[in-house]
Amino acid sequence: MIDFETRLATVVEAVDRELESLLPGSEVLEQHLFDAMRYAVLGGGKRLRPFLVISSGQIFDLEPGECIRVAAAVELVHAYSLVHDDLPCMDDDNLRRGRPTVHVKYDEATAVLTGDALLTLAFEVLADRKTSPDPEVRMDLVAGLSRAAGGHGMVGGQVLDLWAEEHKLDEAGTVRMQRLKTGEMIAFSGEAGAILARARPQQRLALRMFAHDLGLAFQITDDLLDVEGNASDVGKATGKDAAAGKSTIISMLGVEGARDRAILLSRQAATHLDHFGEKANALRALCEFVISRSN
Ligand code: IPE
Ligand code: IPE
Ligand code: MG
Ligand code: MG
Ligand code: MG
Repeated sequence: MIDFETRLATVVEAVDRELESLLPGSEVLEQHLFDAMRYAVLGGGKRLRPFLVISSGQIFDLEPGECIRVAAAVELVHAYSLVHDDLPCMDDDNLRRGRPTVHVKYDEATAVLTGDALLTLAFEVLADRKTSPDPEVRMDLVAGLSRAAGGHGMVGGQVLDLWAEEHKLDEAGTVRMQRLKTGEMIAFSGEAGAILARARPQQRLALRMFAHDLGLAFQITDDLLDVEGNASDVGKATGKDAAAGKSTIISMLGVEGARDRAILLSRQAATHLDHFGEKANALRALCEFVISRSN
């Protein structure tokens, strides 16, 4: 069996190639926008959401090439969310993926517009016939990614995250915030392979539930890395959540409690894969990676 690192490296290579072709350099007057978009997307990132899209597609015998545009679209939305997340009015971060953030490298207005352009590009990619010959599949993908990214998904979660700097969230509220800001995008990524393959509703739901639990484990690990990691490994400033008074599972349960919760969620995620047999082994390996990662 191919090991997880090799599989992930193959996804990184394929999705980087696709993103590169979707974001060509440009020599128009507004080219700094396209430079900034390339800067935000290329050359870094674990590409876990693309890995989910491609690995869920493989369960239904889709080739990576058949999933690559959806994988790239999800990564474009993710990159946009990071550019905006780092803005001075949000988390005010200077370091991302080991490099200056977009508003530091360019300026704040460019960072806002870069995010806007990445978000819209993602939907242009999904709506294109090259993504799937079936218009219903394309509509399902557009609807799914919109829901995951919007007010009832990532954007709503980001609002709650900021609100919780000034107000107290209880544990249920914190879990809800994490589900929205991180979980929904990851849940869609897991479901996307099933959408592309026109899998049965039950199979689609199983993958969604798997990725949902995985997303919660993923965000808890992100919070743990903020407490325990150092900037040079993690590629972004650490110690910022407590300093900003963020509500996290760690502020509720402490470091050990949060780690136990992440392990539990990762195991729970894997149980949703039981029906898929060996074809889901890449996703099972991802459950382990998500809680043991160091960046
Ligand atoms: C960071 O996501 C933001 C969160 C949702 C926690 P990743 O840890 O996937 O960031 P990259 O893409 O690898 O840089
Ligand atoms: C961000 O969560 C989630 C997003 C939707 C971008 P964080 O603010 O914890 O992500 P990092 O730690 O800056 O990557
Ligand atoms: Mg944030
Ligand atoms: Mg942040
Ligand atoms: Mg974080």
